[in-house]
Amino acid sequence: MAALFIVSAGGWAVYLAFNAGSWWGPLHTFMIGGVLLAISGATQLFSTTWAAAIPPDHRIARVQRLLMATGAVAAIAGFVADSGVLIGVGATLVGMGLVVLAWILIGITRRSLLRRFGLSSRFYLLGIAAGTIGVTLGGLMGGGWAGSRYLDFRVTHMHLNVVGMVGFTIVGTLPTLLPTMARHKMVSGREATFGFWLSSLALGAMAMGALLGRGAVGVGCGLASVAAAVILIGIAVRLGIRRIGTSGLPALLVSSGSLWLIGWSAGRSVSLLGGGYGVWSQMTAAGIGGVALVLFGSLAYLIPVLVGPGSDLAGNFERMRANPWLRFVLANATVVAATAGLPGPVILALGLAFGLDYGTRVVLILIRERRRRAS
Ligand code: HEM
Repeated sequence: MAALFIVSAGGWAVYLAFNAGSWWGPLHTFMIGGVLLAISGATQLFSTTWAAAIPPDHRIARVQRLLMATGAVAAIAGFVADSGVLIGVGATLVGMGLVVLAWILIGITRRSLLRRFGLSSRFYLLGIAAGTIGVTLGGLMGGGWAGSRYLDFRVTHMHLNVVGMVGFTIVGTLPTLLPTMARHKMVSGREATFGFWLSSLALGAMAMGALLGRGAVGVGCGLASVAAAVILIGIAVRLGIRRIGTSGLPALLVSSGSLWLIGWSAGRSVSLLGGGYGVWSQMTAAGIGGVALVLFGSLAYLIPVLVGPGSDLAGNFERMRANPWLRFVLANATVVAATAGLPGPVILALGLAFGLDYGTRVVLILIRERRRRAS
């Protein structure tokens, strides 16, 4: 379902590259349909497997997916039809989808055998809280109910969703994901708990932006970047930089992507505290790049797992992990080029070179597994 929204967003973006129109549509098709549905699936999958819990009732999980998907379609249709009411309905459904997701995750955590994933679950709930407030503000803006507070709502909405919902979900996963990728037992400690409380303060400050303006959002972004940095440094100290460096492409992409995100959030803090109201700047490329790197790194680890039971797990892991340095450099060079504002063809060439190598490995795994099943 998420892939369907992502492909539609891509098609819409290609159309807009050659025709006039607002980028709100493809951006939100990607963010609400793609990112929120992916977060819904990933947080349930991680919470169930890593906490050794009984999975949620599939009927509730289906209701949650449907709320999210119909909400996304309603909000996007409202935007196309210029109907504030439809956008409001969409935001309400998406908000309900987030509340049901929180309920599912609390249930999973209660049923879990291993408490080691508790902190990550709390980060997920924090992200969902940020998303619920963020989506509500989006509904108020889209419905035309923001009045003179529009600019404050817009800046708060954007950061609650991206730094809060997306960022907290990534940061909450790191203390388990990175050690797992590096084949090490769980490492989170006091610094992760400290990072959680700092992130809670960040959520409070960002949310206050709707009433107090961009300065509060800037404080929230600053606190969130410090919290994420504390957690990442804690992981690096416990695991050792060398171990992360030698554990293959997934860990390299996830850790460098997280660093880009931290840098972007800190940059947003400086810009907002300096008085800017804009939500886009050259630095935005660092934020988008960071999320993309974390996504590619996580998928490089998850594809061999999700390819199905009975697959050649070790062989497929090795295919995604092996000879990581060229791909790592290409991926990060793409983000450097985009953030530095280098010409489009340079960014495209670097991104394509990375994508070609990455995509070839994924396709080879899929072909190999299909052949294995057929034989
Ligand atoms: C149903 C849910 C949502 C609604 C109704 C909504 C609505 C809006 C509206 C009305 C704007 C202001 C547009 C403008 O002033 O040009 C906006 C901006 C934005 N939204 Fe959302 N949004 C929703 C969900 C999300 C989600 C989930 C994300 C990210 C994960 C997101 C990210 C953004 C960003 C990055 C902007 C700034 C872009 C810009 O203003 O140019 N939104 N949204």
